[in-house]
Amino acid sequence: MNNLTSSINVKQFNSIAELEQSRQEIAKRAQSAAKRAYAPYSKFNVGACVLLNNGQMIEGSNQENASYPCGICAERTAMFYANSTYPEAVPVAIAIAAFNNGKLLDEPITPCGMCRQVLLETETRYNSKLEVIMVGANHTYSVNSASDLLSLSFTKDVL
Ligand code: THU
Repeated sequence: MNNLTSSINVKQFNSIAELEQSRQEIAKRAQSAAKRAYAPYSKFNVGACVLLNNGQMIEGSNQENASYPCGICAERTAMFYANSTYPEAVPVAIAIAAFNNGKLLDEPITPCGMCRQVLLETETRYNSKLEVIMVGANHTYSVNSASDLLSLSFTKDVL
């Protein structure tokens, strides 16, 4: 028997002011996008903003439904809009921020499993790393690749 281990590098920032300019901008836009969430059931408002390689920034927020499973997360709203509107543009980074009952989470919001899978598909589709920036009031995290958030992942390579 062998023990196989993996580790990831997470950059921790004390403030989004420490991020480079374009990343700061999407971190701010993720926060403003959260204000347009439709989350009457969870009251957990999430915003995301995708940076494309042409410089465009695409925002999205979570959209809930009385039939709960019909709802969709902010990350997928933003990424699917970006991919369907600008399929030729390569997503290079995504920022995510969440407000619980109107207050920005103290610690970074980390994407759900389904969103991680979608972000990973973006990387494989465009053959390009997607930086994921997770915003919190006290700390912000960044990983260089969506694949860092999903070990032993399932991708199109096995199909
Ligand atoms: N949600 C997101 O939009 N992104 C995440 O990364 C985690 C969860 C949404 C889904 C649902 O509308 C609410 O937050 C509570 O789970």
